[in-house]
Amino acid sequence: MIEVENLSKSFGSHLVLDQIGFEVDEGESIAIIGRSGTGKSVLIKHLIGLMSPDSGIVKVGGQNLVGMSERELLLVRQKFGMLFQGAALFDSLNVAENIAFPLRRTGCSDESEINRRVDEVLNLVELAGTNLKMPSELSGGMQKRVGLARAIVHRPQIILYDEPTTGLDPIVSDSIDQLMMRVRDKYQITSIVVTHDMRCARRLGQRVIYLREGQVYLDASAGEVFNSQDALVKQFIRGEANLKEVNF
Ligand SMILES: Nc1ncnc2c1ncn2[C@@H]1O[C@H](COP(=O)(O)OP(=O)(O)OP(=O)(O)O)[C@@H](O)[C@H]1O
Ligand SMILES: [Mg+2]
Repeated sequence: MIEVENLSKSFGSHLVLDQIGFEVDEGESIAIIGRSGTGKSVLIKHLIGLMSPDSGIVKVGGQNLVGMSERELLLVRQKFGMLFQGAALFDSLNVAENIAFPLRRTGCSDESEINRRVDEVLNLVELAGTNLKMPSELSGGMQKRVGLARAIVHRPQIILYDEPTTGLDPIVSDSIDQLMMRVRDKYQITSIVVTHDMRCARRLGQRVIYLREGQVYLDASAGEVFNSQDALVKQFIRGEANLKEVNF
């Protein structure tokens, strides 16, 4: 479904991604972990063609995104659902219109179909009946759930989550984890989650990619990563700081 080969990206003289390579099969569920600033968000922006690499290949469904026109990229992006940090809802649109947005963008204009699909995903995230509420009336966790509903309403083949639970309390984070698992299991959707939350990584990632200093340090099953005896992996997973190494 996704193939990344020798992907490198620098900003000025700062090499952020250094010869990254991995593949994601259809229906797989991957967690990407790594320290702040290692390039996780930059990497997933490459997967949807929001950034293009200095060198390397990014293929989605067999098509190389590198060198595609903006028009071609728009078609590729329709295969994706995205939930980024902060739900990024449109403040001036109500819940139903926020969720309908990706459907309308892909050309759907059948209002009864739109209403049906909006209700279906609102049900899935347990927010049935909130159609007419404005984002400002919702808690952070509810906004996240609306963001999740919006990310799946057009039935994407792949869903990307960038820090879906950052900034939420542990109980709300747990509910978002459960909803992400529900989405994965109901739609058999290929899922990639970037997270600092090891519980979320463990629950959602059947496979875990640990990025370190711009490279794939470890790409293995969740069991192998969480039981790894490698000192750096253990230190990261347990969140132990070596003060000499931390750049505050
Ligand atoms: N558009 C840009 N222009 C210049 N530098 C950038 C740009 N986007 C990202 N960077 C730099 O690339 C590096 C990696 O950023 P990125 O946002 O991918 O980190 P991250 O692993 O997602 O971190 P976090 O866990 O804090 O979200 C950072 O040093 C950042 O400053
Ligand atoms: Mg990030």
